[in-house]
Amino acid sequence: MIRPPVLNRLRDSVPAVLPSLLLCDFGNLEREVRCLEDAGVPGLHLDVMDGSFVPNLSYGMPIVAAVRRLTKLPIDVHLMIQRPQNYVRQFRDAGADNLTIHVEAVEDPRPVLEQIRSLGCGAGIALNPPTPISRLEGCLDLCDLVLVMSVQAGFGGQSFNPVALDKLRQVREMVPPDVLLEIDGGISPATITQASAAGAQLFVVGSAIFGKPDYQQAVMELTHLATPQPV
Ligand code: DX5
Ligand code: ZN
Repeated sequence: MIRPPVLNRLRDSVPAVLPSLLLCDFGNLEREVRCLEDAGVPGLHLDVMDGSFVPNLSYGMPIVAAVRRLTKLPIDVHLMIQRPQNYVRQFRDAGADNLTIHVEAVEDPRPVLEQIRSLGCGAGIALNPPTPISRLEGCLDLCDLVLVMSVQAGFGGQSFNPVALDKLRQVREMVPPDVLLEIDGGISPATITQASAAGAQLFVVGSAIFGKPDYQQAVMELTHLATPQPV
């Protein structure tokens, strides 16, 4: 399968720490994006929540478009919404490079993943901690990325659920080597090394960056801890 070039860019940067903008200062979006670029992050993660698939409500296309105008970094959009098929084109037009849908949000992920790929975006599938990986069977051939949630989708600042580690190891066995494995939720200096050892390549981080005064130092420390050390 031919992967969208922008995902090759991300693949070249693994282990990649992707800040989740959910916890950023939206009143100073430009300053936040500049600080993250200066911190050397290889991409940005945007969490879209609809108040229905998840109890929380965040933002939609206008924020994705605003971030697109501010940066050339790859934009990874995590759709925590019902009926994602109704919004895929708008998110692509807003500037998303990768669109990840939740397997729990759709009856059949295949047509949505096909739709995403037909628009030239990377296509990802996400699953929450209680969802068995058997739910992914039948759609992995259409995925450029698999997002294993290490918290229940919906809120930043939750604790890491280690159930994600086994899932990462199992998914790695089920997909070709060029499919990216991403983990999201509770990633911090205390959890990132085990997530990396289990096969995660993209690490979504909210509080462990935005709760720190120095983003660059936080990103460097996390990236270092995610990089396999020579024995
Ligand atoms: C949860 C979101 C995450 C979250 C990450 O639904 O998808 O991206 O904001 O935040 P932390 O790192 O604080 O768990
Ligand atoms: Zn996310």
